[in-house]
Amino acid sequence: MTPDMLEKARANAKRGGYSNVEFRLGEIENLPVADDHVDAIISNCAINLSPDKERVFREAYRVLKTGGRLMVSDVVLEKDIPPCLKESIGAHTACVAGAEREGDYIKIITSAGFKDARIADKSSFNIASLLDDPDIQRTMKERFVDAEKVAEFASGVTNIKVSAVK
Ligand SMILES: C[S@@+](CC[C@H](N)C(=O)[O-])C[C@H]1O[C@@H](n2cnc3c(N)ncnc32)[C@H](O)[C@@H]1O
Repeated sequence: MTPDMLEKARANAKRGGYSNVEFRLGEIENLPVADDHVDAIISNCAINLSPDKERVFREAYRVLKTGGRLMVSDVVLEKDIPPCLKESIGAHTACVAGAEREGDYIKIITSAGFKDARIADKSSFNIASLLDDPDIQRTMKERFVDAEKVAEFASGVTNIKVSAVK
């Protein structure tokens, strides 16, 4: 997403002798890839950070060949989270505040045109990453919310792996 990240990735590929990889600078809402061009798309824990997930999946659909596969891992919600987390920058960068309800996430994928959208795997979210965040700790203090309460809210936060086909 930034030139520094690409520089590091290219240096790592060179060091590892990986000659069959290419890195392109871009954003997931506007992929630097031609239409009907790729066989598969993978993503780990990035789409929840986008304010326009509809556009992200429309872009994924656009660049995939017909029959191309999508397999993404992301954070979703099984219940709504309270304002103290929803409005926290720490909770956003911890991949929680921008997360969609699970059913909505699948609907967005299907609305983009994908078929056979299904949850391939599900696991619980690591609550420690929330409680360790200084911004979340400050928000909890300001709003008199204790760690136990945040843990209760976080019980509705889940990691899912979703597969779909164009
Ligand atoms: C939680 S990290 C996951 C990184 C990596 N996929 C991994 O598994 O370690 C989220 C990444 O998404 C990137 N990101 C956030 N919004 C993005 C966007 N709109 N377009 C492209 N990348 C984005 C961030 O720069 C960050 O590198």
